Amino acid sequence: MRISVNGQTHEVDVEPDMPLLWVLRDELGITGVKYGCGIAQCGACTVHIDGFAVRSCQQPVGDVEGEVTTIEGLGSPEALHAVQAAWIEHQVAQCGYCQSGQIMAAASLLEQNSEPTDDDIDAVMSANLCRCGTYPRIREAIKAAARTIRSA
Ligand code: FES
Ligand code: FES
Repeated sequence: MRISVNGQTHEVDVEPDMPLLWVLRDELGITGVKYGCGIAQCGACTVHIDGFAVRSCQQPVGDVEGEVTTIEGLGSPEALHAVQAAWIEHQVAQCGYCQSGQIMAAASLLEQNSEPTDDDIDAVMSANLCRCGTYPRIREAIKAAARTIRSA
C-alpha cells in the first residue's frame, strides 16, 4: 500500500491491520515517534493525520487516509514550528521520551485553538503522560507558541 509521510509517498508491504506506529518506525525508519503503552493511553506515539493528533499505536495503517506528519516533518532546522521553538525556549524536555508526542499534541491543539486557556491546555495535554513531570513547562511553552502563532 501507499502512505504519505512528511511530504513523501512510500510503498510499504505490510498487513493493513499493522499499527501505523510500527510502519513508521520499523518499515520507514522514522523513529521520532515513540512506543510507550501500545494501548492509546500515554500519547508517546502521537502523530498527525491531516493536522489532527492521532495515536499511531492504535491506528491501523490500512485505515489511514491523508497526510501523516511526524515530529520529523513538523518543522525544519531552518524553520522550526512555533511549538518546537517554544519548547527550546522553555527547556521543556527532561528525559525526552514523551516529548515528540507532547509536541505533536500541542501543535494540533494550537491548530484548532490559537488562544487556549489553562483549562483548554489541560483538557488536551493531560492525556499525554510525562513521567518526568514536565507539565508546568509544557503549559508555558504552549502559551508562548500560541502568542507566536497569533502574532504571525
Ligand atoms: S504508545 Fe500509543 S498511546 Fe501509548
Ligand atoms: S520528559 Fe521524560 S517522560 Fe516526559
